[in-house]
Amino acid sequence: MIATVRPTHRLEGAIKVPGDKSISHRALILGSIASGESHVRGLSPGADVQSTASCMRALGVDIDGSRIGGVGMSGLRASAGALDCGNSGTTMRLLAGLLAAQPFVSELMGDESLSRRPMGRVVDPLRDMGAAADWPPLRVGGKVPLRGIEYEAPVPSAQVKSALLLAGLYADGATSVVESVRTRDHTEVMLAAMGAPVQVDRFRSAVSRADELAPLDVDVPGDFSAAAFWLAAAGLVHGSVVRLLGVGVNPTRTAFADVLASVGFAIRRAKPRLEANEPVVDLEAGHGDRARPVRVDHDAAAAMIDELPLLAVVATQLPGTSVIAGAAELRVKESDRLVAMAEGLSAMGAVIELDDEGWTIQGPRVLEGARVDARGDHRIAMALAVAALIADGKTEIEGAECVEISYPNFFDHLEYLA
Ligand code: S3P
Repeated sequence: MIATVRPTHRLEGAIKVPGDKSISHRALILGSIASGESHVRGLSPGADVQSTASCMRALGVDIDGSRIGGVGMSGLRASAGALDCGNSGTTMRLLAGLLAAQPFVSELMGDESLSRRPMGRVVDPLRDMGAAADWPPLRVGGKVPLRGIEYEAPVPSAQVKSALLLAGLYADGATSVVESVRTRDHTEVMLAAMGAPVQVDRFRSAVSRADELAPLDVDVPGDFSAAAFWLAAAGLVHGSVVRLLGVGVNPTRTAFADVLASVGFAIRRAKPRLEANEPVVDLEAGHGDRARPVRVDHDAAAAMIDELPLLAVVATQLPGTSVIAGAAELRVKESDRLVAMAEGLSAMGAVIELDDEGWTIQGPRVLEGARVDARGDHRIAMALAVAALIADGKTEIEGAECVEISYPNFFDHLEYLA
């Protein structure tokens, strides 16, 4: 599908972004091994989370809408065929951890993009735990019990950390993961709420063997990474006022909002509350100043990893030289996001220089509508759509249907707000 996006003079309205994708995956996986029925309302409607749901069904779990029939810690059964993780790295890596700890062998497969993504980062530490784990193709399980390890992650990754914590629930002794940056901690938050022996101490997350997990009865917060597109768009389009209702603001997720605020964007929080033990607010975003460029180093890049393509769009409108460095991980996401944004924004007239691990962007620059390619990557499609809202003339985004992965009604929301 080609999405045509035209510039707008104002964004206005209130929307509810989809349920958080990261939390939704975890609720489906942990609810599946809980003792009894969980109720998880507001799961992400995206295709990635559907991939996790269908894998859990293939492992013998009854999932129907918001109801998850937990089978207990040892109740999963071998799938009849390979588990299809679709486009979802979170599905593949988290399930690799859970399934490495099961007495049966599982094979996990994915689409072309996912098949290219690195799985050694999860296979290697699982082997250190004594698991049978091979890749490619990804095959895990059948050799238990596992033993706990202390793992110093060479690349900060919430997916790897979560995989090891899930395996650690079944291991003898403690399993801990130490990172140089605090990556998203939704697994730890949910495990604690389910009564698992989990401990978090700054950069270290640890679990011990759990005999059972209490079922969940929760509402999933709105996805900050989806809300981010509107925080940026409202800040860039004059006269905008956008309200985003019920957005999760776990501090391990919100570094992007802090960067926007630091360059002068107007973002307000209202009605703080807790949902699923996660902090939630209504966010109000409006047009703000753009006082200075941004500088992002390795640690800051890890803290706003999914928002970096969007930050590149914002940087084209900031005065001076913005440097987004330490972002080599973007090369192994759903697409090579460093190349995808350099190409897309260059086509739109931005001054953006690509290097091995980031971009240097000169601004401010008036963007021009162009024909650009989403490269099958949902976050690229949506970041380019935000750029299109401030460009002169129309922009055509090829392959825009990939927004289905995390935000199926993104273009409906765009039409409503614009
Ligand atoms: C996610 C972790 C991040 C992020 C992805 C979701 C998660 O990946 O980019 O969109 O739910 O744990 P990495 O762990 O590879 O950084």
